[in-house]
Amino acid sequence: MGYRGLIEKYRKNLPVSDKTPVISLHEGNTPLLPARNLPDKLGFNGKIYLKFEGMNPTGSFKDRGMTMAVSKAVEDGSKIVICASTGNTSASAAAYAARAGIKCVVLIPEGKIALGKLSQAVMHGAEVLEIDGNFDEALNLVKELSSKYPLTLVNSINPFRIEGQKTAAYEICESLEQSPDYQFMPVGNAGNITAYWKGYKEYNKAAPEKYTLPKMMGFQAAGSAPIVEGHPITNPETIATAIRIGNPASWKTAEEARDESGGVIDKVTDEEILEAYRIVAVTEGVFCEPASASSIAGLIKYIKQGYFKSADPAKIVCILTGHGLKDPDTAVTNAVKPQKVKADIKDIINTIGF
Ligand code: F0G
Repeated sequence: MGYRGLIEKYRKNLPVSDKTPVISLHEGNTPLLPARNLPDKLGFNGKIYLKFEGMNPTGSFKDRGMTMAVSKAVEDGSKIVICASTGNTSASAAAYAARAGIKCVVLIPEGKIALGKLSQAVMHGAEVLEIDGNFDEALNLVKELSSKYPLTLVNSINPFRIEGQKTAAYEICESLEQSPDYQFMPVGNAGNITAYWKGYKEYNKAAPEKYTLPKMMGFQAAGSAPIVEGHPITNPETIATAIRIGNPASWKTAEEARDESGGVIDKVTDEEILEAYRIVAVTEGVFCEPASASSIAGLIKYIKQGYFKSADPAKIVCILTGHGLKDPDTAVTNAVKPQKVKADIKDIINTIGF
């Protein structure tokens, strides 16, 4: 049998044993695509790679953490998992709970979930509860609920989530046969930057010369940038609903990743996110969701600022955390509308301008 998911592949680096029931949808092993056109388009003389995490089974990186969190929950005899979510975590938790044959409860902020994500959670049979509050409030509620009732919390404060997600850094190191110089990525609840940094540090420890430590470059949306502003944001706003988060649970470990690596956590505006979202789709054929494009928006911002020295062409990985099909509304609203033509060859030729 071929690839069977990240627990089987990285078993010796993960807290699992022969007794752990592996709940997997064969997540991980996602493409690391060398960008063909972006460097020219952006006037950048280094190498850009796109780690397309939208190719995971439910369309986001959350599956890496969820295979671990749900497998360990089942090992512990849990019958119900619970999470708060801006969408992707709920889609992933619902799918893995369905596969495990256990119940899943998700709390989502009302009206702020992309359509694809909601459709996944409901189709996989989760109990979906919309709260009249935002993600941060939902997270506080599920933390309290899981401390008082027999419910396993599968948000990224569950340490098994971080263990699963760190495998994306392993895959990058293995594909490149070295580490990147910089990693650009979105930051929301800040679990993923924590996980990547852990993964890179583990590879570095095992082979320090081969796997040096990349600078971690994290990007929040400007209206939801608590780490950048230095205080929680009570009413976070952004078009990138996945990272509409005002008080990240892994704040401290995100700052550690930034500081230990010599990187940055900065912000990008919704306009910059939408522009990057279009550019990567049009120039590379890669359709990611808006939150994911904040990594590209961050890269564009730093190239424009002259952050990179041209004498030292850098090797950069941008993490594209979720698939564009998750959020068809944002795509259709922001793309050029289809043109109406008659069902007629002449009209078609005239319209495309031969
Ligand atoms: N990109 C996407 C597509 C996400 O869904 C998220 C988080 C992030 C980036 C940020 O990752 O939270 O580890 O810093 N989504 C969570 C959710 C919060 O509920 O689906 P992070």
